[in-house]
Amino acid sequence: MFMCLLICLTPRSGLADIDPAEYELKTSVRSEEQRKQLQAEFAREQQQEAERQRQEDEREARRQAAAKAAWETLPYPLRLTRTRCTACHAADNYANQRHNRIGWELVILRMQHFNEAQLGAGERGMIAAHLAEAYPATGSAALIEALQQLVVALVPFWFWLVWKILRSRHGSRA
Ligand code: HEC
Repeated sequence: MFMCLLICLTPRSGLADIDPAEYELKTSVRSEEQRKQLQAEFAREQQQEAERQRQEDEREARRQAAAKAAWETLPYPLRLTRTRCTACHAADNYANQRHNRIGWELVILRMQHFNEAQLGAGERGMIAAHLAEAYPATGSAALIEALQQLVVALVPFWFWLVWKILRSRHGSRA
């Protein structure tokens, strides 16, 4: 306890180091002329900073205008696809897939009905056409996809066939 008090009450050498006379000296040395010089320097720096900022703003505006111009030169279906299809996920989701036109229509239908993608009238067809052109199924993958679609499209026929077979068996037993 006593030691503690002793330590606490010992004057701190750090505080004692500061000499107020030094400050007074510095301020008094500053003549009117020096003050003006400093003010001028400060104003100059401010002006330079403002100029730098203005140039930076100009560059940014030019960059934005160029980006907008580049965007506008893209074909409309591509812009539409990018706008509509990257609202929820990155373009990778569709850019690394390959489908024929029907396949892309089905992907977009799924987006609309299961994931609630909002598309305007006629937009699905336009996007599907663009995707089928940009990311088409090729080679054996194209053949397999077309066959799968054919099999699915013939579902009513398969039902009819099964029904026919069952009926003929039933008929032959009777
Ligand atoms: C409202 C949100 C939303 C929008 C808009 C949307 N998607 Fe999707 N998409 C999803 C979700 C959620 C998944 C992941 C679940 C799934 O596969 O259904 C997904 C997944 C996908 C996949 C990967 C599926 C797979 O089988 O690997 C493709 C391809 C795709 N989207 C294409 C599109 C295209 C093309 C459009 C533009 C017409 C679109 N999406 C717009 C929500 C959206």
